[in-house]
Amino acid sequence: MLFQLSEEQDFLIQSLRKFCQQEIAPLAEKVDQEKLFPHQNFSKMAQLGLLGLSIPEEQGGSGGDSFYYLAMIEEVARACASTSVIVAVHTGLACTSLSSFGTTEQQARYLPAMVEGEKIGAYALTEEQAGSDAASLQLQARLEGDHYILRGSKIFITNASQAQVIITFARAPGTTGADGIHCFIVEAPTKGLEVSKPLPKMGLHGSETCQLYFDDVKVPKENVLGSPGEGFKIAMALLDGGRLAIAAQALGIAQAAFDYTLSYLQQRHQFGRPLSANQGIQWMIADMATELDAARLLLYRAASLKESGLPFSKEASMAKKYSTDQAMKITTDCLQLLGGYGYSQEYPLERHMRDVKATQIYEGTNQIQRIVIARQLLREASR
Ligand code: CAA
Repeated sequence: MLFQLSEEQDFLIQSLRKFCQQEIAPLAEKVDQEKLFPHQNFSKMAQLGLLGLSIPEEQGGSGGDSFYYLAMIEEVARACASTSVIVAVHTGLACTSLSSFGTTEQQARYLPAMVEGEKIGAYALTEEQAGSDAASLQLQARLEGDHYILRGSKIFITNASQAQVIITFARAPGTTGADGIHCFIVEAPTKGLEVSKPLPKMGLHGSETCQLYFDDVKVPKENVLGSPGEGFKIAMALLDGGRLAIAAQALGIAQAAFDYTLSYLQQRHQFGRPLSANQGIQWMIADMATELDAARLLLYRAASLKESGLPFSKEASMAKKYSTDQAMKITTDCLQLLGGYGYSQEYPLERHMRDVKATQIYEGTNQIQRIVIARQLLREASR
């Protein structure tokens, strides 16, 4: 077991941090307040090959493993949470779905343009009546000749309004549960597909979350991703990796809140001394730093299992649950430590706290993560 970064890994993180702090962080407040989709950040990241991290070079990506991808998500989230979720869905779910389950033709058709940022990806699983219970989704996919006809709707779809490639899950008529779900590459815009206005939400204002309405949308048979009927397993396998990115995202946001607060506590004087001179506050600092480290270790333990080709669902859920719960607590405590300034929109703490809340909810609520963890433990115990 090695707990130290190699020189190469350390260099990569330092370079990513420099880029994110110089290029992405200065825009974060404007992105939040004006609800701007950060095209500029997306393009700059594409130019550096960051959108293709963890996608093999032979498929048009930049190569690199989970470590590099997750380090990138963490550093981007530390600078701008909205940008990090846009990239996590684009690269981690949409590009990865093609990279892991696509045919050579599908990969050649979509991946190079996605890695170069010319096409944006989305992942459409959730429906109004199928959130945590993803296997109950109802979007219909009826086969007619060489095409599937999609009818129904999706909700809470990140990037939907910006995407040209929407990885969409729909079921064959007459099927129920996890069986009979297909995974499709839906190109947008396309006839019959309507995208709602972005849904107003608490945080992550630069990331657009929309509804999708499919009114007999024709999708060619060759746009089925993986085998027909295997869609649910594809959705779940992708979410295993996606949950690592959400853990990294929460870590990045919490780290940003912590860094800001640590510096504030040393500068702000009350009762004739810096706030950081108070033991009660020092204990909070120590607790937050410990939780950040513990969350990072859980994250990289799960990523290392993934890289070794070993099962990592349980460990990904543990990392996601732990990191996001701790990040919620850390951002709340940091806001408290800044008092009235923490609550003010002129300081970044309230944005961090609003942004991080979503990480406890999307890509599986933390209650669902506990189900995944407990089921696996019970399976292991009954063997
Ligand atoms: N990998 C591969 N296959 C898997 C799997 C995994 N991780 N998990 C389950 N499966 C397989 C099972 O083996 C089973 O196959 P068999 O029938 O052949 O054995 C099949 O899938 C059904 O599995 P379950 O019986 O466990 O399914 P379930 O209905 O009980 O659901 C669940 C399990 C974990 C609760 C799942 O529904 C779930 O994860 N729900 C949360 C949904 C979610 O995370 N949504 C996120 C939306 S995307 C998003 O948020 C992106 C964004 O915008 C940021």
